[in-house]
Amino acid sequence: MNVLVLGGAGYIGSHTIVELLENNHNVVCVDNLVNSSKEAINRIEKITNKKIKFYNIDLCDFDKFKIVFNENQFDSAIMFAGLKAVGESVEKPLLYYHNNLLSLINLLRLMKEYKVKNIVFSSSATVYGYEKGKALKEIDKANDLNTITNPYGKTKAMIENILMDEAKVNKEIKVCLLRYFNPVGAHDSKLLGEDPKGIPNNLMPYIAQVAIGKRDKLHIFGNDYDTKDGTGVRDYIHVVDLAIGHVLALDKLSENSDENLYVYNLGTGIGYSVLDVVNEYEKASGKKINYVIDSRRPGDIDNLYCDPTKAINELGFKATKTLYDMCKSSYEFQLNNPNGYEV
Ligand code: NAD
Ligand code: UFG
Repeated sequence: MNVLVLGGAGYIGSHTIVELLENNHNVVCVDNLVNSSKEAINRIEKITNKKIKFYNIDLCDFDKFKIVFNENQFDSAIMFAGLKAVGESVEKPLLYYHNNLLSLINLLRLMKEYKVKNIVFSSSATVYGYEKGKALKEIDKANDLNTITNPYGKTKAMIENILMDEAKVNKEIKVCLLRYFNPVGAHDSKLLGEDPKGIPNNLMPYIAQVAIGKRDKLHIFGNDYDTKDGTGVRDYIHVVDLAIGHVLALDKLSENSDENLYVYNLGTGIGYSVLDVVNEYEKASGKKINYVIDSRRPGDIDNLYCDPTKAINELGFKATKTLYDMCKSSYEFQLNNPNGYEV
């Protein structure tokens, strides 16, 4: 397949491009590098020994974006592009609604005009809103804007709705919504990984910087949650397992079927607490992870993990990597790239 990857220089997109190339798909990547680096593209080429066509374009710029469709032919698009910092989205809601919604709308308009059939969209566990202590299934209540606490999450819910509405009336497209739980870890080559700008918002990249001595301690946001040890529980999934999920999603969309809307959770189905992650990271890195207990982070919930059965049964998806693998690969990437992709 000829696959258009939007936001492919980013964390999940770059790992997915590697898997796409290794499964003999052709890739064209578009990214405006607002939260990534061109170096990720160089590294993909190094790992796969293949060249990819790259456009530095903002998807909100319809006319420039159109050039990509004029110059290439696509069977499918995978939409990773978007801003994703939960806290920043609370401070700058308009930026998030503008960037995330307009990018997607422009993409859909161009797919329609150029008759590109398949779209895979990066959705998130955040669409489930506040749901406590149960393995979330795709049939559970989702996209309730009253239970989603930040504009970032609301853009995911709105986009899911746009895609579902479009799929209902437009049988020329096929849509796959992938609801990611907590992607972590890095590629085995140590060349690709997560490269957050500034202070990491998320747990594992923060721990990684503590492990190499870049930050002195982790701040654990609350130990009074209703969980086994009081710290927040999440469903961490290795980014390479997640990336493979996208290749399987494209396979699904290319099946001969009248169905044109698919929704899957991508996670392991196992919940680990913050302290579980700290302990496993210590084992995987051989480093002591110093931490302090701080107050809860606004908007966080106790327990969030999925039931991945539908993805297992229908996509043949199987997360094979353990929490140890996630920690080990995260540490090795951080150790080899203490300043991320800055060269
Ligand atoms: P990322 O920030 O590393 O990648 C997103 C990419 O999109 C970046 O390279 C960025 O430069 C690009 N981008 C943003 N706006 C753009 C625009 N207007 N035009 C062109 N490029 C643009 O993030 P990621 O972790 O790889 O996440 C990929 C997708 O998965 C995002 O949509 C994110 O919301 C979603 N997601 C991520 C997580 C997570 O924890 N990482 C969880 C659930 C869902
Ligand atoms: N945590 C800490 N200290 C930190 C960072 C995180 O204790 O420095 C804790 C959090 O309180 C939470 C757990 O670690 O209990 C995981 O937090 P992350 O920030 O790594 O991940 P979240 O589950 O909060 O967020 C993720 C994605 C979002 C997405 C959300 C959906 O990063 O994009 O899941 O639920 F919206």
